[in-house]
Amino acid sequence: MNILFIGDVTGVAGLRMVDRQLRPLRERYPADLVIANAENAAPTGRGITAAHAERLFDSGVEFLTMGNHVWDQREAYALLEQDGRIVRPANMHASAPGRGYTICHAGGKSVAILNLIGRTYMAPFSCPFETADRLLAEIKERADICLVDFHAEITSEKLAMGWYLAGRATAVVGTHTHVQTADERVLPGGTAYITDVGMTGPRDGILGVRRDQVIRRFLDQMPVRFELADGAWQLGAVYIQVDDSGRATSIERVMLVD
Ligand SMILES: [Fe+2]
Ligand SMILES: [Fe+2]
Repeated sequence: MNILFIGDVTGVAGLRMVDRQLRPLRERYPADLVIANAENAAPTGRGITAAHAERLFDSGVEFLTMGNHVWDQREAYALLEQDGRIVRPANMHASAPGRGYTICHAGGKSVAILNLIGRTYMAPFSCPFETADRLLAEIKERADICLVDFHAEITSEKLAMGWYLAGRATAVVGTHTHVQTADERVLPGGTAYITDVGMTGPRDGILGVRRDQVIRRFLDQMPVRFELADGAWQLGAVYIQVDDSGRATSIERVMLVD
């Protein structure tokens, strides 16, 4: 079975890019399951709303993962409680709304989708490595395949998670930095890995944000309310092929520009 994972869908540009490109993309990459990180899918690029989640589902995305922006829209609290297709980082406090993983059926397999968040240059969440151990043990009997979206800032923490879960998870894909890395590979034991899948949204900004605002911020260090950039769009994704034993056999980077 095959999985297509789309990186941080950002603002209206990201939603439109997914809507325009996912169907043709699925012809080239026959995915049994399509997952997208949607922590930036609201029009401001911060968080998610029910309407914007629905637009992604209408476009053909089947499950959504989140990240540090998960609670930026107030309606996300209820949305994540109600909609089992949306997964937020599992290493948040137990009282947080929603779920840290879900198990679905795709391509004749049961697939666990697990979301974790890093701790370096992030809020002080629980240990993502310990959480991974605990949840993998919990999931083991119930899922043939486990995909982990590790939403983290630094390359070493992401690589550490990849190697920590090598042979235990089917895939560890990084999100959050919005810049696609060229280090995709299958780790020993059949774990597909990439440090960052890359962002889906405005291409000519800085991580999706208007570049004049970001440059100004670096120059004068004054607070600014960031807005998303205009111009060309991109779609960052990875396509992962999985064998019958639940091990990844390949991972391919996808970067489309529109
Ligand atoms: Fe993001
Ligand atoms: Fe993020």
